[in-house]
Amino acid sequence: MGEKLALDGGDRAVPQGMVQAWPPLTQQDRDAVMAVFDSGHLHGPSAPRASALQEKWAEYCGAKHCLVTNSGTSACHMAIATAGVGPGDEVIVPAFTFWSTAAAVLHHNAIPIFVDIDPKTYTIDPKLIEAKITPHTKAIFPVDVHGMPCDMDAIADVARKHGLKVISDCCQSHGARYKGKVVGAIAEATAFSCNRSKNLSGGEGGLYTTDNEEWAHHASRMREFGEVITPGQQREYNAFGLGWMYRPHEFVNAFILSQLARLDQYNAQRKEFAGYLTERLAQIPGLKGPHTPDYADPVYFSYVVEFQPEEVGMDVPAKAFKAAVLSALRAEGLPLGQWQSLPVPAQSVFQKKEGYGKGCPWTCRFGRDVEYRAEDYPETVRFIESHSYLGGVYPPNDLRLMERYVKGFRKVMENIGRVMEPAKS
Ligand SMILES: Cc1ncc(COP(=O)(O)O)c(C=O)c1O
Repeated sequence: MGEKLALDGGDRAVPQGMVQAWPPLTQQDRDAVMAVFDSGHLHGPSAPRASALQEKWAEYCGAKHCLVTNSGTSACHMAIATAGVGPGDEVIVPAFTFWSTAAAVLHHNAIPIFVDIDPKTYTIDPKLIEAKITPHTKAIFPVDVHGMPCDMDAIADVARKHGLKVISDCCQSHGARYKGKVVGAIAEATAFSCNRSKNLSGGEGGLYTTDNEEWAHHASRMREFGEVITPGQQREYNAFGLGWMYRPHEFVNAFILSQLARLDQYNAQRKEFAGYLTERLAQIPGLKGPHTPDYADPVYFSYVVEFQPEEVGMDVPAKAFKAAVLSALRAEGLPLGQWQSLPVPAQSVFQKKEGYGKGCPWTCRFGRDVEYRAEDYPETVRFIESHSYLGGVYPPNDLRLMERYVKGFRKVMENIGRVMEPAKS
């Protein structure tokens, strides 16, 4: 029997108000955004902040081209389109991601084909991809979920064998490295999100990178109505193909640029906090931090905790164990939550096959009817049932908060008999 649980009226391990929100905002951020008002440039892909951000992000990733966009979803859509995916084509995506990855495929009237995740990294399992390839497959769209780079060489091997494009959803992995190389120029095109929660935040926003000049031109037309708009030249008002309105605002570009100056510092802090937690969780039976394969240097967009009832001799499903332990941890003030509650193919949009309507993209002219069943993705289901997300594992929080977290984890697990009482009854 350990210290009295907060559930039973004891003191919380994490005092109220101690966890601070992401992203840290500095005077530089405020000055950078306010300066836009006086700059005379509020918008446009060739406005000064847009151009500077494109240049800096391309350089950061080692990519030849970068285009700023208004969201990660638009950057994903640009990646799908520039990879030459068309109506009825199939694109391989992981069953575990934010559904925007698959939505970008549907936006181009193409069909997402889901593949389960690797049980250790939670990214797409390259060994399962080949079985999902058909004559309709055009591209593989892996996702660096939680900031963990996918095993890109293994994915590229499958793609090469079948003549497929590899494009990458790095919306959660700014600055992560695969085999020493920063992500952003490893796949043929890469999409990043700069939504508020992301490691590189702009409130909203996105970035598209590629080494392919033709793809960059295509993406740039797509970003602005299908038109070719050249700075300093009279706009022709002639659309060369289908386009969208994916331009960002200069406020956002200025904000992202300002945050970019501190991305490496913030990522280093995330890694330090994650390393600290993982080392200590390894000494607490029943809980486990994330695994890092040799090839990866992840940036911990999310810090995930696994709940392992068998490690403490509890013969209950992981889901029930997690629910009971989470109640006690939350009472201690640990901000633990759930992200996805279903594999993406189990979401209603895929169960009802709601695309553009009239069966598209599945059963209209070029498509193929596909069955989407949650049980086909057992590792994704297992992950969702047995893991939770710990908030605050980023600056401006510091190691004192991580110590408090560890204290809360220890306290709850030392009282596991008491914590499990409601679940047993
Ligand atoms: C894996 C993944 N892909 C795509 C997106 C879409 O990014 P955005 O919200 O900026 O459109 C997100 C954002 O949450 C994401 O996490």
